[in-house]
Amino acid sequence: DHEGRVVVVHNGIIENYLDIKEKLLASGHEFSSETDTEIVAHLIAYHDRGNPFEAFMSALRELKGAYALAILFRDQPDQIFVARKNCPLLVGITENEGQFVASDVAPMLSYTRDVVFLDENQAGIVSNEGLKLFCVNTGEPISFQIERVEWNPVMAEKQGYKHFMMKEIHEQPDVIRNTIGTRTSEEQGEILLEDIGIDSARARSLNRIVITACGTAYYAGLVGKYLLEKAGQIPVDIDLASEFRYRDPILDENTLVIAVSQSGETADTLAAIDLAKQKGAHTLGIINVKGSTMTRKVNGTLYIHAGPEIGVASTKAYMAMLVAFQLLSMYLGRLRGNLEAERCRELIHDLKVIPQLIEEMLKEKKLVEEIASKYMNFSNFLFLGRDINYPTALEGALKLKEISYIHAEGYAAGEMKHGPIALLDKDCPVVAVMTRGPLYEKIVSNVQESRSRDCRVLGIITKNDRQVLHHVDDALEVPDIDPVLSPLIN
Ligand code: M6R
Repeated sequence: DHEGRVVVVHNGIIENYLDIKEKLLASGHEFSSETDTEIVAHLIAYHDRGNPFEAFMSALRELKGAYALAILFRDQPDQIFVARKNCPLLVGITENEGQFVASDVAPMLSYTRDVVFLDENQAGIVSNEGLKLFCVNTGEPISFQIERVEWNPVMAEKQGYKHFMMKEIHEQPDVIRNTIGTRTSEEQGEILLEDIGIDSARARSLNRIVITACGTAYYAGLVGKYLLEKAGQIPVDIDLASEFRYRDPILDENTLVIAVSQSGETADTLAAIDLAKQKGAHTLGIINVKGSTMTRKVNGTLYIHAGPEIGVASTKAYMAMLVAFQLLSMYLGRLRGNLEAERCRELIHDLKVIPQLIEEMLKEKKLVEEIASKYMNFSNFLFLGRDINYPTALEGALKLKEISYIHAEGYAAGEMKHGPIALLDKDCPVVAVMTRGPLYEKIVSNVQESRSRDCRVLGIITKNDRQVLHHVDDALEVPDIDPVLSPLIN
């Protein structure tokens, strides 16, 4: 604040900061930046009548938007005030080594595995004596539970890899093994998911599934739609959580709403769950972080067991989500009588082989580097896929944008002729997922059309598929597996 007495760490956006700023300017506050964060410090100072925590609580009641806040008063250096709204915030508890505040579990792990996840509209005082929590609206004290995180500090280290994303890509085989865990009985052709809160009666009573998520988790959900419709024979809708939460979706007690999230803290997905519950739907979370806010909101949880994902670009969690959807679709398929035990047995067998196949693929780093160096100077890419690999194209384009800062679009290949083909020329390469599957011929002909526009094509193709080589300029070969499982490999 203008006296340098209140220090603020803020994650999020204060939406009404201009209104607050106007009020504070009128009462003589001077600002040294244009940020929304600075008004938080001034607002607390404005409310301070000698009780700093009361001032903090009064300020919180005025803030609109999203925040995870950690506040320190210069003259009270042994206390940190914390609060959250629409942004994750955790307090790590130790007996003798201090307390810790962060927005994610991973940075806590070197200090403590005992954490408290704050809920919406909670504020706390963190000190050497531990944590005290209060409701922001009423000011009443709140009791809370300390969660024990199962992850260890080594899991949150780079372990010799150049960066976390590379480490996490290499963890994928083990992550897939962990997600499968003891959830299958190959002998009986059964999936063992009784702990997710969907028994046979509920599975049979479902008349619709709605999947909701953001970003990569949404694309995993899109693969889930194909799988659930096929094996479960249930109509499935999918919606971005940021759209779903502001619509008036039609849901009832026979709708299953599946929320997908690595962190379990994404604000739009949390709000989507609240809405689904209000409307009486049964909710299931496909989630990575145990104890996260989402796990406490949903009726049942299917943990993906991917371990801490520290790289911002999701890789191993996406894989684990795909496996979770695979298991869930087979589970519902069996309960609803739409999937034969024999077919389930086959799929379990093939699923268990995938980690090994990926280990082999990860040895092809040299080839991937060679191809990357051929394509690195293009500024636009089109990723094409069809059917269950349409989401693969979307996720591929997202990864390229996020990591290489190169513009990329993902498209369902059948849509090309309806407009986007106009964009293709020698400066816009196509990455096409054209592995063998029910729509193989279709995508090959889509790629032929694209090539007539002189663009370069990089095909993701099935190993030893000589025939398709005529239609691509470069190829990355992947093992031949059941098309239903191909998004995991592609
Ligand atoms: O933690 P969540 O899975 O809810 O996060 C959702 C998205 O923000 C996330 O998947 C994002 O798109 C990826 N990190 C992109 O790689």
